[in-house]
Amino acid sequence: MCGIVGFTGPQQAAPVLLEGLKRLEYRGYDSAGIAVESGGKIRTEKCSGYLENLVKMTDGGKAIPGNCGIGHTRWATHGAPTVTNAHPHISNDGHFAVVHNGIIENYAQLREELTAKGFIFYSETDTEVVVHLLDMYYTGDLKRAVMKTVARLEGSYALGVLCDEKPGELIAVKNASPLILGVGAGENFFASDVTALIGHTRTVIYLEDGEFASLTPDKITVYDPAGREISKPLSQVMWNTEAAEKGGYEHFMLKEIMEQPRALKATIEPRVKNGEIVLEGFQFGSDQLKEINQIVITACGSAYHAGYVGRYIMEELCRIPTRAELASELRYSKPIIDERTLLIVISQSGETADTIAALKECKSLGARTLAIVNVVGSTVAKLADSVLYTWAGPEIAVATTKGYTTQIAVLELLAVYIARQLGRLEDKRYKQLVRGICALPERCQRAIDLNRRVEKLAGKHYKKTSLFYIGRNLDYAVAMEASLKLKEISYAHSEAYAAGELKHGTIALIDENQLVVALACYNALFDKLVSNVKEVKARGAQVLALARESQRRIFAEADQVLLVPETDELLMPIPEIVPLQLFAYYVAKAKGCDIDKPKNLAKSVTVE
Ligand code: BG6
Repeated sequence: MCGIVGFTGPQQAAPVLLEGLKRLEYRGYDSAGIAVESGGKIRTEKCSGYLENLVKMTDGGKAIPGNCGIGHTRWATHGAPTVTNAHPHISNDGHFAVVHNGIIENYAQLREELTAKGFIFYSETDTEVVVHLLDMYYTGDLKRAVMKTVARLEGSYALGVLCDEKPGELIAVKNASPLILGVGAGENFFASDVTALIGHTRTVIYLEDGEFASLTPDKITVYDPAGREISKPLSQVMWNTEAAEKGGYEHFMLKEIMEQPRALKATIEPRVKNGEIVLEGFQFGSDQLKEINQIVITACGSAYHAGYVGRYIMEELCRIPTRAELASELRYSKPIIDERTLLIVISQSGETADTIAALKECKSLGARTLAIVNVVGSTVAKLADSVLYTWAGPEIAVATTKGYTTQIAVLELLAVYIARQLGRLEDKRYKQLVRGICALPERCQRAIDLNRRVEKLAGKHYKKTSLFYIGRNLDYAVAMEASLKLKEISYAHSEAYAAGELKHGTIALIDENQLVVALACYNALFDKLVSNVKEVKARGAQVLALARESQRRIFAEADQVLLVPETDELLMPIPEIVPLQLFAYYVAKAKGCDIDKPKNLAKSVTVE
């Protein structure tokens, strides 16, 4: 996600801002910029690509004089990573500069209103509406202009504001996105997280959602949402830089597992308005959808596993033949694909070579293409006819977690949306599914909370050299991802198996040395799964079962149980994968593996 910094004090601001942005590079970004106020004028420099370009352009900041400024590293969510879309954004009259981390969900309406009022937009970003609102509401009182502006915003935002009529003053606003104030001696700071501050000060003020602050070199004034001045405690940051980058977690992977509720919220909420699913960017109307006679989902690795979950949901709800195909297979299989095929391409990075090749192959055969991607402006995003972004924020750990669950969330929204467009979903069921999808962030958090003891469980099994993950229907799809997670980061061999298929051969491998992880959340086939559990137990296997919180019968069948919060049958995969991500994480940790950078693996394989 984006990173923002602000500085005001006796030092030259630009070098301090650039150094702060460098500290935030780990958050992932694709463009950067700074704005500095000097002598009542704001000067802005921006670049696409690496921060190094900005450092070079500004001679390390020396080329931009001034003691008060703001900076930004942008992780594109709305609009490609170009200089025009980079922050800071400037008001038409040049009096304001703004940096933003988060998503302004109602930016389209605000943009329309502001354009009608004569404001000129230059970027494709949601953020630019903020700087024009400030311009519109400013009559000399910066605090009031900020309050009136923020009152119009819906969504998540950490904002930094610079005004050329208020030399030396910064405004920082927090709502749902992280923002921390750094308290120095005769100088003050704000930043998205402590990594950008601890080089200058370890004394910080944590803002709550809705609060905002005015910073000058010798004073920080904090206000509540109503604009009343409030006093805030000073805190001391004890983390070192490395710990700070991981938000205090030992590994990026654990941080990203814990971030999933927030990532799901960011991906789902902007797409449900007054109980209706709204898929901006999905170009196919109901007439075109009616022409579709097959859906092919293609991807690699975990993205393929997300697609495999999606194929069950799509086929059940849309009643269109749907299959999931490995991209590396699809591209060479002379597939029967034409203009009546909807190809859904899933890729976190949007740069996986096999996935790009499969997309190109299917496009050449006439398929209509939709991409589900996490990186704005990536190759897959550009090649597809339509794109639905996951707004998971950058994923640093090689083994994906929030990338996978947000892909599933988009597939669920898409399946329900298409089924509705095709008139194959009656109102009650539609509303039930939409409510269930909106509750997924909370179900995901509960899945995390229910499984505090996974580490202890992993301690019992981390020496196992081979594990079986078995499940039926959606449980089988989740088993694929659970098995890959374990292999990727702990190097233990494991296999995902359709539980009903075990008896046709592979059960010969089952004995008292095996741990079988039985996924039993798909209620319709629970009894069948239980009979598979009995089969493997009869051959001496130990069984760790996953079951819905209410499915108490499982305790009589399995040796150990991990509980999964209840939700709709079709929506169980997201809460269900969470304890299995944690299980893989803690097994790898117990084995002392390099969890964030597993051997032989890359975050995105851009070669064949
Ligand atoms: C692998 C990654 O290299 O590529 C996996 O390690 C990922 O985590 C797979 O699922 C596909 O990558 P992408 O970016 O296309 O989703």
